[in-house]
Amino acid sequence: MNPIFKAQARWFIHQMRPLLPAYSSSVVLVVLSSLMFLLDPLLMKWLIDRVLPKKDFRLLVFAACGFFVLYVFRLGFFTFAQLVNFRTIQKLVLRMRLSILERMNLLSADYHEITPVGDRLYRLEQDVDQVAEVGSNLVPFVLQTAFKAVFVMGTMFTLDSRLTLMVLPLMPLFFVFRKKFERPLRRASDSVQERAAKENSFLQEHLSSVVQVQLLHQEKSQTEAFLQCARERMKALNHRELVEVLFSACYMGIIALGTIAILGYGGYQVFIGALTIGGVVAFYSYVGALFDPLGAAVHIYSQLNRLGTNIQRILEVTERAPGVPEMPGAVSFPSPLRGYVEMEGVSFSYCEAAPVLDSIDLKLEPGEKVALVGMSGSGKSTVVKLVARLYDVHRGAVYIDGMDVRNLRLESLRTKVCYLLQDAVLFDRTLKENLLLGNPLASARELHRALEIADMKELLRSLPRGWDTPVGPRGNALSGGERQRVALARAVLQNPSILLLDESTSALDAPSERQIFMNLAQHFPKQTIVFVSHRIASLKWVDRIIVLNRGVIEEQGTHDQLIHTGGLYTHLHSAPGALLNADSFPHLSKNN
Ligand SMILES: Nc1ncnc2c1ncn2[C@@H]1O[C@H](COP(=O)(O)OP(=O)(O)OP(=O)(O)O)[C@@H](O)[C@H]1O
Ligand SMILES: [Mg+2]
Repeated sequence: MNPIFKAQARWFIHQMRPLLPAYSSSVVLVVLSSLMFLLDPLLMKWLIDRVLPKKDFRLLVFAACGFFVLYVFRLGFFTFAQLVNFRTIQKLVLRMRLSILERMNLLSADYHEITPVGDRLYRLEQDVDQVAEVGSNLVPFVLQTAFKAVFVMGTMFTLDSRLTLMVLPLMPLFFVFRKKFERPLRRASDSVQERAAKENSFLQEHLSSVVQVQLLHQEKSQTEAFLQCARERMKALNHRELVEVLFSACYMGIIALGTIAILGYGGYQVFIGALTIGGVVAFYSYVGALFDPLGAAVHIYSQLNRLGTNIQRILEVTERAPGVPEMPGAVSFPSPLRGYVEMEGVSFSYCEAAPVLDSIDLKLEPGEKVALVGMSGSGKSTVVKLVARLYDVHRGAVYIDGMDVRNLRLESLRTKVCYLLQDAVLFDRTLKENLLLGNPLASARELHRALEIADMKELLRSLPRGWDTPVGPRGNALSGGERQRVALARAVLQNPSILLLDESTSALDAPSERQIFMNLAQHFPKQTIVFVSHRIASLKWVDRIIVLNRGVIEEQGTHDQLIHTGGLYTHLHSAPGALLNADSFPHLSKNN
């Protein structure tokens, strides 16, 4: 068996396992309902050959009752099967969605930073729905089809074996066509999923930035880009439909051949008295019923291809290893943590690109307040991301209190090392609920202190419902600076031993930023704090300033030591707030 198919089947069975009792009962009900359906032609044969010629009214009523009972049972079994199946599908959807979400939660920044939200959503929503829908219907369908095929063939042989043997040579044709259409069907199916996910990603990005699109006057070009995606998807859908229709047409051809053969030969058998009229009518119904499973098999085959594509897309997530895995035997930080950070010969690059950091050696003493400055793109954020272990180093190591961060439990690391981004992420909850994410057990006193440090008292007073004011999706009901203050207060409540502030106060005015820095330094005298900022003026007071340039440490020291060197720091200081890049200071570049 194809190993990819094997892996897909194994995963699907694993998902289905707890639902097997409910699922089996729905399968049994479906099979029973088709049994009732298959008894119809036999009753019809009895009616035509025995009841009608005798003109026996009593038997006629008996036959009518027979048809009625078969109908009621068929409907009963079918309805009940559908209800049970529907519930099973819902449970399956929930189970699969949960397992994907749990895996996505485990995956690291390398996955989330480069995979569009739309693509991730498509896997969680559409792929799961399709797998549940098609996958759970597939087994009853296959069983029903197989059961029908066996039952019909058996009955046909009993009725007329020669007639049955005439139909059988048509069967191998089924496999010939199946083989021929296998690859085109699979490719068409993959292409549809890929284009649908692309369109979804585009829409997701567009809808979450419509205002920005309007500000850029790009409505028209965005609509055209959407049209392009939608057309490609439509083209892929049309192509898949064409391949599927061609495939079915070939099968319909076989069915037509079989039916013609039966009617011709069966009619002749009636002429010579070898078969009754009832017999040929029953035979005709059974031929339809025999080719039904074949037609169904065609359908199953197409569905199987689609299902394979959907499962493969889910497996791409569930089988992906986290970029930052928790090692077996990982340990927690001892308590209390001192906050000594060391980077030893650290080199790093994103993807296969050129190195972003090159052999960085850095030591931060417990309780030290350090500023990390440098031009845009020099690698400041990358340094703090490596300390917070959002990524793993490619060479060298990062130690906290002498422990390699790769040997630490992620939960322990995330609790003690707090990394605050420039783009403060809040959740669509109340102000208080957002703050308590830092520490769900925080007391009222701790909350007030965090507000004081983040200079948020004024903000709290201005909010219509105070603590209980909802902050909107992603905190959009607050200004950029207010969002940053809330995120900072949340970090304060977390009470970390190492605080990494990556331009996390950039939206505040300079005096407020300086005030908050001073508050933090005062409140966290023993904690190690790294300030990353382009506003150098507000960081003159720190214990040490580290200047990064193109992934290496260019210089370090206190403000007073660096300001007179005439190096990069002096230049950065004399052009505060400007958006600088390496080309602004070609004479200082390490390559020159
Ligand atoms: N997720 C990523 N994938 C690929 N390249 C990245 C990624 N993040 C950053 N880079 C690249 O790595 C280099 C360093 O980026 P980094 O964010 O560390 O710079 P920075 O000093 O923080 O800049 P800024 O001051 O603008 O925030 C840049 O050239 C950037 O383009
Ligand atoms: Mg940065």
